[in-house]
Amino acid sequence: MADKNVFNEVPENLGFYEEAIPVNWEEFKKVAESRRSIRIYKDDPIPENVMRECLRLTTLAPSSSNLQPWEFYWVRSPEKKAKIIEFCLSQPAAKTAQELIVCVARTDTWNRNRKWMVERLKKEPNTPPVAFAYYEKLIFWVNYQGPCSILAPLKWLITSTIGLFKVMPRFPFGKKGLMMWAVKSTALACENLMLSLRAAGFDSCPMEGFDEVKVRKLLELPTDALPMMIISAGKRKPECMYGPQIRFDQKHYVFEV
Ligand SMILES: Cc1cc2nc3c(=O)[nH]c(=O)nc-3n(C[C@H](O)[C@H](O)[C@H](O)COP(=O)(O)O)c2cc1C
Repeated sequence: MADKNVFNEVPENLGFYEEAIPVNWEEFKKVAESRRSIRIYKDDPIPENVMRECLRLTTLAPSSSNLQPWEFYWVRSPEKKAKIIEFCLSQPAAKTAQELIVCVARTDTWNRNRKWMVERLKKEPNTPPVAFAYYEKLIFWVNYQGPCSILAPLKWLITSTIGLFKVMPRFPFGKKGLMMWAVKSTALACENLMLSLRAAGFDSCPMEGFDEVKVRKLLELPTDALPMMIISAGKRKPECMYGPQIRFDQKHYVFEV
C-alpha cells in the first residue's frame, strides 16, 4: 500500500459531476481524418464569431495542473500580419492564409496562474483541503527553480535520490525542463484549435518554419516565452496539398504492453 500523499489522498466522492453528453463518433472521425496541412487557401474569410469560438475551444485543452501555460495571438493588424508572413519565410501556408495565430508556450505565468487557481478553488464549495496543499505548496516547489535556475541541480539531486527508493514524479528541472513542461500543454491546445477549425468547415496548417526571435520581438514577448507554432487558417483551395496523407505503419508507434 502506497504512503498517503497529495496525489492519492483524495476523497472517494469528489462532489462534482458533469454529464458525458452523447457525441457523434462518426462525425468526430470525419473531423480528425479530414484535417490536413493546407498550403494554399481560398479567399473566403473565416467569420469572426467562428474564429472566436475556435479560440475558446482551443483553451479548453487540458493542461498540466490546469496551469494553462499558453497564449494565442490572433494576428489581426494588417501590419503585424505582413510581418508574420515575412517571418514565416513567406511560405504559401502563411501568405495565402485568412488568419494567423501565434501559439506561445509560457514558462513564466505558472505562478500567477497557480495563485488564480487557489482563488478560484476558494470559491468552489467542495474543494478538498488537499487541493489547496497541492497548489499552495507542492506546485510552487515543483515549478520554482530559483533565480537563474540555481535550485535546479539541487532539485534534480533530491528527486533522483528519493526516486531510488520511492515512486517519484520527475518534475521539471531548470529552464529547459519548464519549457518542455509548457510546450506539452500548449501543443494539446494547438491541436484543439486545428480540429475546431476543421469541425467548423475550415482548414489549417501548423508551422514551425518561422523566425522565432523576430516573432517574439514583434509580439513584445519576454525571452523565455516560446512562440512554438504559428497556425494558419482558411478554406482549402483545390490542389492545396503536397499529396495524400502519409502515416507509417501503426506497428512502429502503437504498442500494447
Ligand atoms: C510542429 C509542426 C511544424 C510544422 N511546420 C510546418 C511548416 O513550417 N510548414 C508547413 O508547410 N508545414 C508544417 N507542418 C505540417 C507538416 O508538414 C504536416 O503536418 C505533415 O506533413 C503531415 O501532413 P498532414 O498534417 O496533412 O497530415 C508542421 C507540422 C507540425 C506538427
